[in-house]
Amino acid sequence: MDIQNLQQTTLQNIANANSLDSLNEIRVSVLGKNGKLTEELKNLRNLSAEEKPIAGQKINLARTAIESAIAEKQNALESAILAAQLTTEKIDITIDKKDRGLGSLHPLNQTKKRVSDFFISLGFSIIDSPEIDTDYYNFEALNIPADHPARDVQDTFFLSKNIVLRSHTSTGQIRAMEKSKPPLKIISIGKVYRSDDVDATHSPMFHQIEGLVVDKNITLCDLKGTLDLFAKHFFGENTKTRFRPSYFPFTEPSVEVDASCYYCGGIGEKDGKNCSICKGTGWIEILGAGIVNRRVLKNCSIDPSVYSGFAFGMGLDRITNILHSITDLRVVFENDVRFLRQFR
Ligand code: PHE
Repeated sequence: MDIQNLQQTTLQNIANANSLDSLNEIRVSVLGKNGKLTEELKNLRNLSAEEKPIAGQKINLARTAIESAIAEKQNALESAILAAQLTTEKIDITIDKKDRGLGSLHPLNQTKKRVSDFFISLGFSIIDSPEIDTDYYNFEALNIPADHPARDVQDTFFLSKNIVLRSHTSTGQIRAMEKSKPPLKIISIGKVYRSDDVDATHSPMFHQIEGLVVDKNITLCDLKGTLDLFAKHFFGENTKTRFRPSYFPFTEPSVEVDASCYYCGGIGEKDGKNCSICKGTGWIEILGAGIVNRRVLKNCSIDPSVYSGFAFGMGLDRITNILHSITDLRVVFENDVRFLRQFR
């Protein structure tokens, strides 16, 4: 066969090939062991000594041309296949999956965030304190010795004789004062435990936020100013606060702090009826607080003749429930989405 002709047809076939398989078939039929060009090569031996090099050169030129055409076509076919794959197998990450609802922060975490953001804005830092702690941090260092009646109201779960689930976040006061010297301005937030049975207003686990400020010349006035600002921030601009005398072993004097009712505006009446939020009193109890007991400062090697401080402890669950008029504590922990959806 005429080499020139063979080369021409083969190049034409290569140009027309539309798959890797058909391209391979062409390659085998021309360059393979029994391919047309290979046959020509084998036929060389029948030629005369003068004809041989001329014919040989022609065959080689044809082979090079065909080989490079095949390589080029193979590249083109492979890129086309890849491009097709990229479009058909593309994953659209922007797809709108309508059946997947977006979650939201749990109402307790919303409160936690609001409260901590507020105190951070006043320059408080947040400290961590363990949920499992020793009798010393939970009671002893806070001036609640073993036989003290205050232990009854804070009866908690003992893991062993000296290890308890903390019954309040006041443990954080001791940890903060042991770790850094005054001036100190910290809050500590987390779960606390008491051996209570579950009902609408009790839970063996709930959440508190503790605040502590220790510096020179800290008085009840500083406490009042701080909590007043807090109540306005949390319940609204017109909220007032009042102090009632109370008792805690780790503060002296101690107070119970009330905020005026955000719902009835402190009147005690709403729509001609007794206000359902404050039960007609006009006030809502929000926390316990006081001036840090000198003994507690001494327990942490802080000189009470130089320094004084205030501390407060607030129930996060309590203020969350008051704010949202939630009357049963249990629904907050059950996490039924029908309940949670209301707090988006
Ligand atoms: N720890 C007290 C409680 O859980 C609250 C409190 C904290 C009171 C700080 C005074 C000062 O009841």
